[in-house]
Amino acid sequence: MSIGTLSFSHLTTGQQLAIKYYSVAVILFAAQVLFGLLAGLQYLRPDFLYEVLDFSVNRMVHVNAMVVWMLYGFMGAIFWLVEEEAGVELVGAKLANLGFWVLTAAVTVVVLVYLFVQIGPGTMESLWFINEGREYIEAPRWADIGIVICLLIFFYNISATFMKGKWSGISGVLVLDLVAVAGLYLAGMFYITNTSVEQYWWWWVIHMWVEATWEVLVGCIMAWGLIKTLGASRKIVTTWLYIEVALMLGSGILGLGHHYFWIGTPEYWFTVGGFFSALEPVPLVAMVVHAVYDSGVHRFKNSNHPALAWFIAHAFGNFFGAGVFGFMHTLPQINLYTHGSQWSSSHGHLAFFGAYATINIAMFYMGIQKWRGDVYMSANIAHSWRWKWALSLLCLGMTGMTIALLISGYEQSFIERALGGATWAAYFEAQQTAWYVQGMVWRQIWGYVFASGLVLLIWDLLTIGKGDTRPMLLPEPAEH
Ligand code: HEM
Ligand code: HEM
Ligand SMILES: [Fe+2]
Repeated sequence: MSIGTLSFSHLTTGQQLAIKYYSVAVILFAAQVLFGLLAGLQYLRPDFLYEVLDFSVNRMVHVNAMVVWMLYGFMGAIFWLVEEEAGVELVGAKLANLGFWVLTAAVTVVVLVYLFVQIGPGTMESLWFINEGREYIEAPRWADIGIVICLLIFFYNISATFMKGKWSGISGVLVLDLVAVAGLYLAGMFYITNTSVEQYWWWWVIHMWVEATWEVLVGCIMAWGLIKTLGASRKIVTTWLYIEVALMLGSGILGLGHHYFWIGTPEYWFTVGGFFSALEPVPLVAMVVHAVYDSGVHRFKNSNHPALAWFIAHAFGNFFGAGVFGFMHTLPQINLYTHGSQWSSSHGHLAFFGAYATINIAMFYMGIQKWRGDVYMSANIAHSWRWKWALSLLCLGMTGMTIALLISGYEQSFIERALGGATWAAYFEAQQTAWYVQGMVWRQIWGYVFASGLVLLIWDLLTIGKGDTRPMLLPEPAEH
């Protein structure tokens, strides 16, 4: 097939699978934003859809769709690069395809059940079939087990392919990391009656994923992406990867303590969590320096403009969302006032978007380029305003939301905690203040800006490179 036309014949087996994963990821991303907007509206008008689609359900679908679309994106990205990196064809392609369909069917059923069975008794049956009640990973136990099986298949596909072909620094880190990502999920699968103990283990999944294992995963994807788009030197990129991983695990593992301040765990967590989590921004700075350095060395000459732009957005988003916004409330002295307020939500939004939505979008652009037969995607692509506006609206919308949430959060910590002494009455008082309410209104307005960026992004992904017959510009090989 010719350049500019979509065809699976342009792709390897793994890459065909990746496109399927990416497609589901984009659909779930759109669902995430839709349910986020509904939940945001309910903040402004609490009676909106009350007892039809309750806030608790909207919120749950919003955050679960996020986790799942990002995981789909990562799995897609790994299927995308595994064959090129290993130098052989994907091992167990049939099984991998089966895994994809089983996982997707399970996700669909889980979401439908969330939407149709919104309330029910807190029994073991609910836990097995409806909802486990653990924020971000609410999937019922039957689905948990299914997810683990699908991840095992995935792990087999990837590690067996590398074993058959060749290993590299990137793939070594990647495969070890996959063991940790999947292994940690198990910590969120057990039912424990003591809430403190329950939370203790639940954070192993949530914190250890986003601040350790997912960071390592995106480090690998970024390393590979810089080699591909810019022609960055593998030696340099791999060295950075090792340094970043060492720093990340060094601070991120014990940084877990910043979630153990107020849940009934021993007091030494104040010191351990405060100290190590305060160091967490260090590897994130390293990642920005690394990305900007590589782009500069290559004078931004690259094979895929939108992808590189999103890789850079990732480096900065990760630094600001996770590093700066995380650091702001990570010391126990500050967290005492900010804990569980819109402050956390502000950080949560910027971090998830900045660190993980961005790099997934970059990989979507890499995918579409090859799917169109390695079409030209450097300077002067037709309709380039679309990807540029999509990037701007998404980043602007998210920045606006984040600042609005921060203002509301500031008011909450001030009125509810500092002045009101964290009483129940002060909790409600804070949420009626003008600053708080305006923050919620502005979050919604910026949410619409974000949503319009997403519409544009999807349109661009579907059309970019269409009918363009120029071949991809190959990056100059590294001269160092
Ligand atoms: C990409 C990486 C990160 C992501 C995606 C992320 C995301 C989140 C989210 C969603 C929450 C809210 C959790 C909840 O529902 O209670 C949270 C909480 C928190 N995060 Fe992060 N985070 C990241 C990195 C960091 C870093 C590097 C730091 C510190 C330097 C940090 C510090 C905190 C703290 C202290 C809390 C607790 C807030 C509270 O007490 O309510 N985070 N994070
Ligand atoms: C149209 C835009 C969006 C709107 C209006 C929106 C709205 C909301 C609302 C109302 C909540 C519940 C907050 C609460 O329980 O108090 C929430 C939670 C959350 N959203 Fe969004 N959201 C949007 C987009 C996103 C995006 C793009 C991401 C990440 C990529 C994201 C990540 C999260 C996270 C991590 C939480 C949990 C935060 C926490 O527990 O602290 N949202 N969102
Ligand atoms: Fe954390």
